[in-house]
Amino acid sequence: MDKEPTQIKDLEKQVAAREAVKFIRDNDIVGLGTGSTAYFAILEVAELVKKGLNIKGVPTSEHTASLATSLGIELLDMKDVQSIDVTIDGADEFDEQLNLIKGGGGALFREKIIASLTKKEIIIADSGKKVARLGAFKVPVEIVPMALNYVVKELAKLNGKGLVRMKDGSPFITDNHNIIVDADFGLISDAAALSESLNQIEGILGHGLFVNLTAMVIMGKGEETITYTK
Ligand code: A5P
Repeated sequence: MDKEPTQIKDLEKQVAAREAVKFIRDNDIVGLGTGSTAYFAILEVAELVKKGLNIKGVPTSEHTASLATSLGIELLDMKDVQSIDVTIDGADEFDEQLNLIKGGGGALFREKIIASLTKKEIIIADSGKKVARLGAFKVPVEIVPMALNYVVKELAKLNGKGLVRMKDGSPFITDNHNIIVDADFGLISDAAALSESLNQIEGILGHGLFVNLTAMVIMGKGEETITYTK
């Protein structure tokens, strides 16, 4: 019987995760991503720990922290690490320059700090995540709640239409007790320039455009993987 699209996606996530953990060495500090793709990598990291590798994880979200702990992965707090050897995380979109949109799961702020501390940021993805140009997926922007009206006006000056992300009828609240505005800029012609502009807006704690932070994208394609490096 043919596989359902979700089964194929999960297979692609899994094969990408398996390929990515090959870059982990004994005694590494490993950043643990958030989301349905990073989930498969966390399972693989737990297997390495069971085999006896001395790996310590740095989680990108509370959800990932609980999952990793339940699987026996020892954790470090990001405030206690100077650098991270390898991080394996997912993305909502990536392009050929390895720029990303992240934050569909709401963990973008911690994910970006961890990516910035990381020597080798590996993004794993199913084949639906590759795009010619970023922007069909709205750019998640984490903001301090009191700054909402100001930030939405500033986003509009950049031709972005911002909508507060909702969950169960209330604003989605991040692990850092902030809210998320998903900003639609249409297809983005210059991700670096837009990222810089967003960095300048007061009240924005972080945004989901990840520019020049990725060393490698491993994409599952059926049962195979395709690796993109710069
Ligand atoms: C979490 O905040 C995100 O950045 C995820 O990495 C991203 O949304 C991809 O999620 P999936 O792996 O669930 O598609």
